[in-house]
Amino acid sequence: MEKNRIIIFDTTLRDGEQTPGASLNAEEKLQIARQLEALGVDAIEAGFPHSSPGDMEAVKRVSKYIKRPIICGLARATGKDIDSAYQALKKAARPRIHVFLATSKIHREFKLHKAKDEILRLAVEAVKYARKKLPDVEFSPEDASRTEPDFLRAVVEAVIKAGAGTVNIPDTVGYAVPDEFGGLIKYLKCNVPNIDEAVISVHCHNDLGLAVSNSQAAVMNGARQVECTMNGLGERAGNASLEELIMGIRMRKDHFKGLFTDIRTKDLYKTSRLVSKLTGIVVQPNKAIIGENAFSHESGIHQDGVLKKRVTYEIIRPEDVGFQGTRLVLGKLSGRHAFSNRLQKLGYDLREEELNLAFKRFKELADKKSIIYDDDLAVIVDAGMSSVPETFKLYDFTVTSGKKTIPEAVVEIRKGQEKYSAKGSGDGPVDACFKTVDKALGLKGKLVDYKVEAVTGGKDALGEAHVKIDFSGKLVIGRGSSTDVIEASVLAYVNAINRLHQTGNKKVK
Ligand code: KIV
Ligand code: ZN
Repeated sequence: MEKNRIIIFDTTLRDGEQTPGASLNAEEKLQIARQLEALGVDAIEAGFPHSSPGDMEAVKRVSKYIKRPIICGLARATGKDIDSAYQALKKAARPRIHVFLATSKIHREFKLHKAKDEILRLAVEAVKYARKKLPDVEFSPEDASRTEPDFLRAVVEAVIKAGAGTVNIPDTVGYAVPDEFGGLIKYLKCNVPNIDEAVISVHCHNDLGLAVSNSQAAVMNGARQVECTMNGLGERAGNASLEELIMGIRMRKDHFKGLFTDIRTKDLYKTSRLVSKLTGIVVQPNKAIIGENAFSHESGIHQDGVLKKRVTYEIIRPEDVGFQGTRLVLGKLSGRHAFSNRLQKLGYDLREEELNLAFKRFKELADKKSIIYDDDLAVIVDAGMSSVPETFKLYDFTVTSGKKTIPEAVVEIRKGQEKYSAKGSGDGPVDACFKTVDKALGLKGKLVDYKVEAVTGGKDALGEAHVKIDFSGKLVIGRGSSTDVIEASVLAYVNAINRLHQTGNKKVK
C-alpha cells in the first residue's frame, strides 16, 4: 500500500445509523452503500449483525451486491457476535470482522467489571476466534483515548500478535484534543514493537466539535485509516464527517504533506443528499462543504470580491464537491429525451420503469410549477426509488382551516381495493390531517419531529416534509414532497405508516 494513502472506512451505516432518530431498512442501506461505492470509499461498515435481525439482513444484502470496497460487520468480543458477523458477511467479496472491547479504567470498572488481565485475555481470544473465520480482522479498544497509555500499548501489541490486521483507536466519547490525540498515535507508533504489522486506524466522536481535527492530527502522526460518516452522523454529536475530513486533506495538501484519499469528491454533495433523505436527518445550512450556504455569499463586499475573482472568498470550487446550485433546467414542455439526458448528466442511471415513473412525476410537477430545477429532479427520482412499498396510498384529502374555525379534515386512504376514510379535527391543518389518517386506519401516532423545507426557491417551490412518529413506542420516520406543504406532510405521515407496516407491525390494518 502506498505510504501516503489514507484508507477511508465509512461507518454511516453503523455508527451513523446510531444517530438518534435515524433508522434505515436493508434496502435503504444498500442504496447508500451503492452510492458510497461510487464515492470511492475503501471500506463500508454495514452494521452490527448480532444486534438485530434488521442489521443482519442489511449486512447480508450489502455483502451480496457491493463488491469493490471491504464490507465490515461489527461484533463485541464474544463468540456469538463474531459468529453472527461471519454469517452476515458470507457473500462479501472482501469481508472484515470488526471486534471491539472497552479498555479504559472507567469502562473496566463500571461497565465490564473486569480487571486489565481479563480484558487483555478476552481481546486476544476474540481476535484469534475471528481470525479462524476470516483473514481480515479489525480490533477496537473502545474508549482508547481514556485508557492508560501503557495498558493500551499492551493491548495493541497483543491483538496484532493475535492476528488483527487493523487496530482502530477510538475516541469513543469525543474527549480528546488534537495535539494529545496525535501524540497518542505517535506513542503507539514508537512503542508497540509489532506496530508495522497492522494499519493504525482512528474513530473520533464529535462531542467537543473536534472529531475531524483529531482524525487529521492522527493521520499526521501515522494513522492510515480513518473511520468517518457522511454528514458527520453518529452516536450523540456524531462522528468525524467524511466530507470535511477529505476536503481538509485535499485543500491543504501543503500542510498534510502529500497525504491523499481515493474519494471522488464530485460525488460528495449527491451522497450527502441521499444520506440526509434516507435517514431523515436534515443537513444544517451552514455545514462545511455540503451545507446549502457553503457556497452562498451574502455580504455585498464578498459578492463583489467573488465576482471580481472567485478565490477572494471561496477556497473550494462548488463543482469540485458536486454542488450544482439551483440550476434552471426544464419546464412543462420539456420532453422525455431532455428529461432523461438531464438525469444522466446529474449521474442518475435509471432502469426503464424507474425512468417512466420519474417522468410521470416530472409532468405532474410541471403542471403545478413552471420551472423545474436540478434539486427538484433529485426529489422526483429519489421518491420513485423509495424502498418502502406504498401499501397505503393517500387517495384524497381536503382540509379547512382559518383564523376563526377549528381545522377539519376529510381523508381517504386506499390499500388496494380497500378504502379507509374518516373526518376529524385538530389544532392546525396538519394536525387535523394526521389525526384523521389515524382515525381512518385505527392508529395512534404521536408526532415527535416535523420539518418542512423548500427544495428550491420561489413561491411554487417543491416542499419536502419529514416526520418522526412514535407509534406506541416504535419510532418511524416518513417523508413526502409536493408543491402543497400540507399534502407533502400528509404524504410523509402515510410514508411513515407504510414503514411501520413494512416492519410487520400488526397494529396497521
Ligand atoms: O465509538 C466507538 O468506540 C465505536 C467502536 C465500536 C469502534 O463506535
Ligand atoms: Zn463510535
